[in-house]
Amino acid sequence: METKILPFTDESVRQAAEILKNGGIVGMPTETVYGLAADARNSEAVMAVFAAKGRPQDNPLIVHISRLEMLPPLVREIPDIAAILAERFWGGPLTMIFPKSDVIPDTTSGGLDTVAVRMPSSPAAKALIDCCGFPLAAPSANLSGSPSPTTAQHVYNDMNGRIPLIIDGGECSCGVESTVICFDKGRIRILRPGGITAQMLGEFAPVDIDRAVTAQPAAGERVLSPGMKYKHYSPKANVVIVDEHGQTFEDYCAAHVSGRTIALGAGIAEHGIFRSYGATSAQQAHSLFALLREADEENADTVFVEMPSIDGIGLAVYNRLLRAAGFEIVRNEQVKP
Ligand code: TXA
Ligand code: MG
Repeated sequence: METKILPFTDESVRQAAEILKNGGIVGMPTETVYGLAADARNSEAVMAVFAAKGRPQDNPLIVHISRLEMLPPLVREIPDIAAILAERFWGGPLTMIFPKSDVIPDTTSGGLDTVAVRMPSSPAAKALIDCCGFPLAAPSANLSGSPSPTTAQHVYNDMNGRIPLIIDGGECSCGVESTVICFDKGRIRILRPGGITAQMLGEFAPVDIDRAVTAQPAAGERVLSPGMKYKHYSPKANVVIVDEHGQTFEDYCAAHVSGRTIALGAGIAEHGIFRSYGATSAQQAHSLFALLREADEENADTVFVEMPSIDGIGLAVYNRLLRAAGFEIVRNEQVKP
């Protein structure tokens, strides 16, 4: 199968919708990362998504809608707080977990009796869902375990020959996947941090951040969001978080070069092994996955990354980095024993 990349137009959306109506799968831009979309109600189509990604079948998919009226048929209950958050943050990078209805097959929900739903703000995603008239299940469009794709070219690099069509909606503005939350007795629990931050949600209800966001799950530990137990977002290079800043960060990296080494600093000038992954958390979120993919293209053996700020969307950057690094964090023992 040859994989086409088509710019986002009425015609490419029509072609993609045709494929989806026939049970096929396509690459879809969203404001967070690119998704690999299928009819969420069609078990066979969803199986094809798992196969194309090489994704474990117990890891459920997010269901994407374009209008609020599409939500009630998919779920058994809509908590009051969810309705308020939908009003405030949809379309946008917020995914909410609901008890699922029978419209959602077990394949989509990874065998859980809940379903994750979000309404993207991306005009291309919205147009595609509107044109289909049914909800689209879409995980990130990377091979399972690789960094998520933030351009159509990234999707092509992973999915060439596995899917017929990618709609090119340009670079994803956010760059990390949506915030995933569930509800617990009027409280909001963040299962995966993203563009809608704890601070933003905290205006509406008390917020808890699930332990799995920053801690490594123990072997066999049951996690609320199955995706959190897998090694993730990981290039082939060995990624290491360096919990130092400025000159101390640079000194550490320079003293620990191991094979072809790249060091990503927070807003430093490019020189030698050093380059910047952004001065602000929003810039870091936007560029992180693309830079990890570039490290692979350059056959890097080691990628050092300066510890990000964990405020706001920074928590999402830190969460993805922890997984890319397999939770490896080092400090410069020479200055801080
Ligand atoms: O921004 C995003 O959310 C992107 C774009 C394409 O929309 N999608 C995405 O999908 O990141 P994926 O499949 O890569 O990540 C979905 C995450 C996983 O960690 C999964 O375990 C969790 O959401 N999830 C899905 N359904 C769930 C459920 N019913 N309960 C708990 N966690 C769920
Ligand atoms: Mg993913």
